[in-house]
Amino acid sequence: MIFHTIYKNNRTFAPLLTRFNNKMEIFREIGQLTCYLKNKRLNGKKIGLVPTMGAFHEGHLTLVKRSVKENDITVCSIFVNPTQFNNPEDLEKYPRNVDKDIEMLKANCCDVVFCPEVSTMYRKERIVQIRLGYLEEIMEGKFRPGHFQGVGLIVTKLLNIVKPDRAYFGLKDLQQFVLVKKLVEELNIDVEICGVPTVRNEKGLALSSRNERLSEREKEQALIFNRSLRLAQEMLKNGGKIKEVRDVILKNFQKDNSVKLEYFEIVDSETLRNIDSLNDCDNASLCIAGYVGKVRLIDNISIN
Ligand code: PAJ
Repeated sequence: MIFHTIYKNNRTFAPLLTRFNNKMEIFREIGQLTCYLKNKRLNGKKIGLVPTMGAFHEGHLTLVKRSVKENDITVCSIFVNPTQFNNPEDLEKYPRNVDKDIEMLKANCCDVVFCPEVSTMYRKERIVQIRLGYLEEIMEGKFRPGHFQGVGLIVTKLLNIVKPDRAYFGLKDLQQFVLVKKLVEELNIDVEICGVPTVRNEKGLALSSRNERLSEREKEQALIFNRSLRLAQEMLKNGGKIKEVRDVILKNFQKDNSVKLEYFEIVDSETLRNIDSLNDCDNASLCIAGYVGKVRLIDNISIN
């Protein structure tokens, strides 16, 4: 592993670096990171946090770029969080490429990388749990039991460690974004949660670390998710009824054996509760998930 500057001991003062010299600080220990950031905060610096699990693509980098633009210091965490994987095989197969990720962060002017070990983030015995009510029972929560409890726990820990002014999340994971917003509101965590629009490839496929596991043919087959969302969006904008739209999309998936639909929901973008009509909310989102081969993909678009 290439670690450019690792603070092994309790060194509080790091050399002051300018944004353009691309010399990132890399921390693996919590104490050293918090010392470093405390110093920056005392000097009036605004801190942006981009939590990730690594295996970067342009989607992740868009979050980093936005944070770099809006804050003095950008901290990107890379941590494949075991508590949010309900399937051990999925955790094992999750792509990991920290050295390449670090190079990409450097090239995008990130200031600080935090890449802790599992044992640094979690004690052997844990008694605290984060429960998220109905939000962990719908859509992703329904198909990935326990997933959002793990996300809630790690995001709360990262926010408490980094104490950022702003934290950045992709709208591709809409349910995660909504849930983190609710979490910080209810727990009075003083941070602004910023949503970043989904980055797609030229054909419309939402970028995802899991796309690496798709063959070229499967990448073509996966386009049905975005095509369905756009078709549903068009139908609804033209006055289509929610039930009719749902039926059309479900039928489209029945015709195609190469993909398996898990859910397609039309929801209020703020609460993620199902709606019966577009008049029920200020903005609606269309959310979809399913499998192409063995790879699970999710996507969503907003009506507006
Ligand atoms: P990860 O899947 O690595 O994603 C990190 C961030 O990148 C998330 O906020 C995600 O929504 C965003 N992202 C992923 N693909 C994107 C795309 N195509 N366009 C825009 N943003 C995209 O999400 C997680 O990690 C974890 O659950 C985490 C929040 C780090 C907690 O462990």
